Amino acid sequence: MSSPILEARELHKTYHLGQVDVPVLAGCSFTINAGEFVAVLGSSGSGKSTLLHLLGGLDRPDPDSGDILHNGESLSTYTASRLDRYRAETVGFVFQFYHLLPELNVMENAMLPGLVPSGIGSQAARVRAELLLNQFGLAHRLEHRPRELSGGERQRTAIARALVNDPPILLADEPTGNLDEKTGGEILDLLTASHEQGRTIIMVTHDETIAERADRCVRISDGVLLPR
Ligand SMILES: Nc1ncnc2c1ncn2[C@@H]1O[C@H](COP(=O)(O)OP(=O)(O)OP(=O)(O)O)[C@@H](O)[C@H]1O
Ligand SMILES: [Mg+2]
Repeated sequence: MSSPILEARELHKTYHLGQVDVPVLAGCSFTINAGEFVAVLGSSGSGKSTLLHLLGGLDRPDPDSGDILHNGESLSTYTASRLDRYRAETVGFVFQFYHLLPELNVMENAMLPGLVPSGIGSQAARVRAELLLNQFGLAHRLEHRPRELSGGERQRTAIARALVNDPPILLADEPTGNLDEKTGGEILDLLTASHEQGRTIIMVTHDETIAERADRCVRISDGVLLPR
């Protein structure tokens, strides 16, 4: 039996745009066991990215409106430095539009999370980034800038970056959303391989076919999560 690595309890999130409230999550709960590969489905605007940002500690739920537990510990009890450590050590993030830094080359982009205070440090980051980039077929691209890469190469660089600190959890937000089917399939193969090595993966998608690659699917609808 695996134990929960991440748990969302009754999460609420409302954005405030001037006088207008935009309620997005309205009591989202689910449990992810260590080693699971879970797909989160939902239509555009349903709150998939919002949920992933909360799980990754990039944003917080509304005050006193739900909780996220990592190995049973509430993120809301974390100090700022503990939260920084969670973001560096525990979760890796992959975005639909890569979010690579244009002025850095592939190697420098991939090393980046290793250089933050709770990262693995620059020497270890160099070794690990090179290893991952080689595995991902980018050995000949290490010195290239993101603008010189194809979409698939950019996303492989972004996955290497997300994995450089060897986090146990990978959060992927529409990782193939901007790629053709073949290239997207190759990215899903990388995620599947990472999952087979034991990593917990939460992948957001609006595409049912892509969601099939996960062990389990849940769906966001009207601000709550339902089994598919
Ligand atoms: N920072 C923000 N400020 C105000 N509203 C926001 C903000 N971020 C998201 N929203 C709104 O919250 C809702 C959910 O957004 P979110 O990005 O989580 O949806 P999504 O399911 O990821 O959509 P998509 O599939 O298009 O990426 C949308 O109506 C969006 O406009
Ligand atoms: Mg989104």
